[in-house]
Amino acid sequence: MARRNVLITGCSSGIGLALAIKMAKDEQERFKVYATMRNLAKKDALEEAAGHNLGKTLEIKQLDVCDEQSIKTCVNSIPDRRIDVLVSNAGMGLIGPIECQTIDEMKTVMDTNFFGLVRLLKEILPDMKKRKSGHIVIISSVMGIQGILFNDVYAASKFAVEGFCESLAIQALKFKLQLSLIEPGPVVTEFERKVFEDGMKMDLSAADEETADMFTNIYLKNYKQIFQSLGQSAEEVAEHTVKIILAENPPFRHQTNTLYTPMTTLKYADPNGDLPIDIFYKMSPLFIHQGPVLHQGCLLPSFTSFPDVSPAWD
Ligand SMILES: NC(=O)c1ccc[n+]([C@@H]2O[C@H](COP(=O)([O-])OP(=O)(O)OC[C@H]3O[C@@H](n4cnc5c(N)ncnc54)[C@H](OP(=O)(O)O)[C@@H]3O)[C@@H](O)[C@H]2O)c1
Repeated sequence: MARRNVLITGCSSGIGLALAIKMAKDEQERFKVYATMRNLAKKDALEEAAGHNLGKTLEIKQLDVCDEQSIKTCVNSIPDRRIDVLVSNAGMGLIGPIECQTIDEMKTVMDTNFFGLVRLLKEILPDMKKRKSGHIVIISSVMGIQGILFNDVYAASKFAVEGFCESLAIQALKFKLQLSLIEPGPVVTEFERKVFEDGMKMDLSAADEETADMFTNIYLKNYKQIFQSLGQSAEEVAEHTVKIILAENPPFRHQTNTLYTPMTTLKYADPNGDLPIDIFYKMSPLFIHQGPVLHQGCLLPSFTSFPDVSPAWD
């Protein structure tokens, strides 16, 4: 099989960096990786990890998904503009009560997580269609399936990605293109650290006392524990992603964390949509605050102790 050109966005840290390195170090040398980042001043970690693969199976390029010209310049610099696999990974989080977030902050999340993907595809999709070959891989999230408390805008950005891709996947079939959404649960990366630090610094004065208390003393208090108990490493997510890229018939959706699967399965089990919301609520300390103790202090279920909730269809 000919070596495939792979362009990955957001390779300064986390999943993007781990994936770029894993693919560049492929023993069979099946990939030429164009590892991109918006700020080349952050390339040291990637360069160091790439070692002797730098300049051979891995090249570092500048690409800001919020800047159309930077995407064009990057794609034009690749021989014949040929990208066989696009991994849209760049993204950012945002947590907290919406009363305390500005519309501009929310727009930045949508601009990066959703329009970033759209800008990439406007530049790369026409070439893939002409060649009738290509695999578009998007690092989405389980929050593209089911929202979580205080992640309203982030979840919305990933829902937008999922809806967009569901629609595009139908057209892609006509051009023999493949589309895959990778849906990790919590992953221990810079993302987690940045989001937590921003949450801790957040000015909560615009929120009522009860909401501010829920965010500080319930959500943030349990945040680290969720990542410790359920979190995967960036390398694990990269491993899942490579398997999907190498699959003969890659699936449209792939969840990387089996601990999380019961929660997303509930979403599909109840057409009314009440079941997962009810279960998330009853397994969270919000419910404990009201009296009955169902679960000992985690915003996500342990999946070993589902509370006795009546399904919405009863
Ligand atoms: N960590 C999690 O719990 C988790 C769970 C599910 C899904 N995800 C998704 O996984 C993806 C990667 O996140 P991660 O966990 O690896 O976090 P990360 O370590 O913070 O990496 C995010 C990357 O995106 C880059 N980025 C942000 N804005 C960009 C822009 N405008 N143009 C180009 N690059 C930009 C960052 O660059 P800078 O260094 O310049 O900021 C960084 O390289 C994201 O799409 C995220 O939504 C993460």
